[in-house]
Amino acid sequence: MKILGIETSCDETGASVIEGDLNPPAGGKTAKILSNVVASSLALHSKTGGIIPEVAAREQVKYIIPVIKQAMEDGKCKMENLDAIAVTIGPGLIGSLLVGVETAKTLSFVWQKPIIPVNHLIGHIYANFVTSNKQQPTTNKKLEVSSQKLAIGFPAIALIVSGGHTDLVLMEKHGSIRWLGGTRDDAAGEAFDKIGRLLNIPYPAGQQIEKLAENGDPKSFNFPRPMINSNDFDFSFSGLKTAVFREVKSISPTMNYEPFTINNLCASVQEAIVDVLIKKTLNAAQKYRVKSILFSGGVAANELLRNSLGVRSQKLAVKFFAPAKNLCTDNAAMIASAAFFNYNPVPWQKITANPELYFQ
Ligand code: KG4
Ligand code: ZN
Repeated sequence: MKILGIETSCDETGASVIEGDLNPPAGGKTAKILSNVVASSLALHSKTGGIIPEVAAREQVKYIIPVIKQAMEDGKCKMENLDAIAVTIGPGLIGSLLVGVETAKTLSFVWQKPIIPVNHLIGHIYANFVTSNKQQPTTNKKLEVSSQKLAIGFPAIALIVSGGHTDLVLMEKHGSIRWLGGTRDDAAGEAFDKIGRLLNIPYPAGQQIEKLAENGDPKSFNFPRPMINSNDFDFSFSGLKTAVFREVKSISPTMNYEPFTINNLCASVQEAIVDVLIKKTLNAAQKYRVKSILFSGGVAANELLRNSLGVRSQKLAVKFFAPAKNLCTDNAAMIASAAFFNYNPVPWQKITANPELYFQ
């Protein structure tokens, strides 16, 4: 079964063709990526220090048709060979979402193909279920072998960490997802980005903070680990941002400091965020006696987080999965994957974009 996925929830325009095998010899469905095209308007948003929704939506309009064409071409997929279309309906920016949703509905009507609406957050989780020839789960070779060989077992805990969301969910099986907790204020990626702004690091700052942290000492600043010992699965990162702000002001009121100070600040911030995410995820894994931990979202590209969570999961005898880095950030392969494993077409007339969509 071939599915065309379309993703336009924010500043990335994505289209992808995946091929799902409904009856593989070993049992259990599998899916592989045939093409995965992403056009990003990130460079424009870097200039303004964040996303301007109107600008993101206009860029989506520009890219959507060329990106879909390219994905069909790269996947060597003709319209006649396509079985269904999957599209992100939310959460996200309304202007951006509408571009993908209305394009998908039009194609569904014109090509006479079933259409499956997909929750973007559930899509992130399903980046773990689709394979690609370019898969690089982690740079830690030991983890790489195990995560490629082992099948995902249920129940599973999924940690979704992106610029807009930080959520922990329990997955009993495909289609059965229970939200356990999430951030009460800033998302983990948002914390990286806002702290980056304090340190004059261009948006989005997560990757750059990780790079600078390589040459810093994570013990040089003792930043708070908000809610780390709370008896729930919620997070809070806004206090961390305030603590960093106070610290940088006290070092230099004009924010003029040595490069090694920035490296140390980055390493300490990164470790504080990583500590909280790992502790809460492992607490949830133990409480619900899960077989697997599934990691996803843009922040899942962070090596320290991937490796530490991988090693700590293995110590609990829980299998750990993290998508290749290009599948952590927004893409359409994860959307097509979610649609394949939860195949539930809806008449195109009933599909609408929903920027506030969350876990049901
Ligand atoms: O999932 P994503 O591409 O977009 C959203 O749906 O939000 O996530 C983007 C977020 C940004 O906040 C960015 O700073 C963060 O992911 N990010 C990272 C890393 N790479 C991207 N955070 C920490 N370490 C990284 N290596
Ligand atoms: Zn996302």
